[in-house]
Amino acid sequence: MCGIIGIVSRTEFPSRVLLERLKRLEYRGYDSYGLFDGRRLLKHVGGIRVEACGRTAAGIAHTRWATHGGVNERNAHPHLSCDGRIAVVHNGIIENYEELRRGLAAKGHRFASETDSEVIAHLLEDALRRGPLESALPRLFRELKGTFAILAMVRGRDEIFALKRDSPLVLGAADGRTVLASDIYAFSDWTGRAVFFENDEMAVVGPGGARFFDRSGRPLRKPARAFHWEQERSVRRTAGHFMLKEILEEPTAVGRLLFSLGHDQKPAFERLLRLIRRSRKVIFASCGTSYHASLLGAYYLHRTGMEVQTLIASEFRHFAKVDAETLVIAISQSGETMDVIDALKYARENGGRIASIVNVPHSTIQRMSELSLNILAGPEVCVASTKAFVNQATLLLAVARAFGFEVRLESLPDRIRALFMQKAKIRAMAGRIARSRDVYIIGRGLTYPVARETALKIKETSYIHAEGMMGGELKHGTIALIEKGTPVLSLINAGDPDIVSNTKEVEARGADIFILTNHPTLGGDRNAVHLKTANDGKFGILAAAAGQLIAYYAAAALGRPIDKPRNLAKSVTVK
Ligand code: BG6
Repeated sequence: MCGIIGIVSRTEFPSRVLLERLKRLEYRGYDSYGLFDGRRLLKHVGGIRVEACGRTAAGIAHTRWATHGGVNERNAHPHLSCDGRIAVVHNGIIENYEELRRGLAAKGHRFASETDSEVIAHLLEDALRRGPLESALPRLFRELKGTFAILAMVRGRDEIFALKRDSPLVLGAADGRTVLASDIYAFSDWTGRAVFFENDEMAVVGPGGARFFDRSGRPLRKPARAFHWEQERSVRRTAGHFMLKEILEEPTAVGRLLFSLGHDQKPAFERLLRLIRRSRKVIFASCGTSYHASLLGAYYLHRTGMEVQTLIASEFRHFAKVDAETLVIAISQSGETMDVIDALKYARENGGRIASIVNVPHSTIQRMSELSLNILAGPEVCVASTKAFVNQATLLLAVARAFGFEVRLESLPDRIRALFMQKAKIRAMAGRIARSRDVYIIGRGLTYPVARETALKIKETSYIHAEGMMGGELKHGTIALIEKGTPVLSLINAGDPDIVSNTKEVEARGADIFILTNHPTLGGDRNAVHLKTANDGKFGILAAAAGQLIAYYAAAALGRPIDKPRNLAKSVTVK
């Protein structure tokens, strides 16, 4: 995933604005970045630094998450054509780039990077040598295979050419400026209206505004649609970390979601229940943290007597049997995860119905779905997903409640606030866990997905090896790794005596036991945190929030970068 942005304005603006806007997309990629403003090309390795760099009426910029070619300034975008006149930024993957590169090299093109994206600049250069723009842009659609959101500029022209296939691209206009970006968060504080590109559409954006075309160059009318998206609040009061800020926003985010499910999203929520009831089979498709939320959701639904399959989206087509009576529910924070999009394509090809639960409104996954619910967690900037997990799980618990799961969800925001009162204790516990190279997290039933999610959070923020697993599986092999002093975090749901037995098994082998529990008599000592709820549905969510805090404080204790892993800090200006 990378982030792209382009701005065309009626009047000149400081080029630094491009970097400010790019910074809002930094969660999409963070190893290097660059901009082209019609004259200057800047490339830096490392995180985005907003710096003064002249004025322009049009410019494009890119923040990279390396896929093809290492992290260095040569591979950072924008990429230029041989004559340096054309600059291109790209999000996606050009599958046939090697073949195109060979063909262009045979025509004399010289490549400066190892990326797949650079081929686009040369292909456009070649096409513009042979004909006008009107025929050059359709040629890109014909020749490029793979996924792309492309912004291109020709040196000296205050215009941006934008093309999209399968990677997100959206346009917003405000105060004489037209902005093209990977998602609405890039400009959601400027305007509440946006035009969403569909596949194989393009636009030519000049100072007078945007003109849209289909892949053959036929004009299109594309109306702007209103969207509602929250502003980002200051991160300063949370030690400068989005991760902690976003965890602390959970009570508000849950409250907002619950209100919405009873009001503006009520009809959509009821439609989702009807769709589930009418389907012979329901499959959740998701990745990473969203997968763990869907696993928790499957548990909740199972308790009401329903059977739901949960699949990691990248494996979907290998394990899912989809037909016209199958409902596939995609669960995704961003709504843009390519593996989930591919799973939905497969579902569609096989006649399945598609619903989704997403955080980013109007995202690709939402637009692929016949029905979509918003979790309303608000912008999630930290790469490690936190409040989105809590709201995904809350929405799924609300679905389970509609099918008979007994839970008073309205008190959940207060229960999370009460958990935050124990931050100091959790922090001290995390500090002790952070001293080890390995940690095991065990759960059973509803705490099994939470164990996996906590392990994922610990891995991605503190870089400690963490394994989240079913308590019952320990004895089948992994227990061999438990020795004196190995930390084991046990998620003990009061209603489940088996997890207590599993905890004793590892304790007998000398493990250092840490506990998150709602058990009335456990949770007293310094290595145990008691989470107040008698309802196990809510306990799953509270334990996950506590696990997020453990991951955050462990990473903080180790001095990790937390919001995004930065593997390179060097910064270079190449032109
Ligand atoms: C990964 C992120 O790349 O994508 C995870 O690091 C996230 O935090 C996963 O859970 C899935 O993303 P999404 O947007 O589909 O929920």
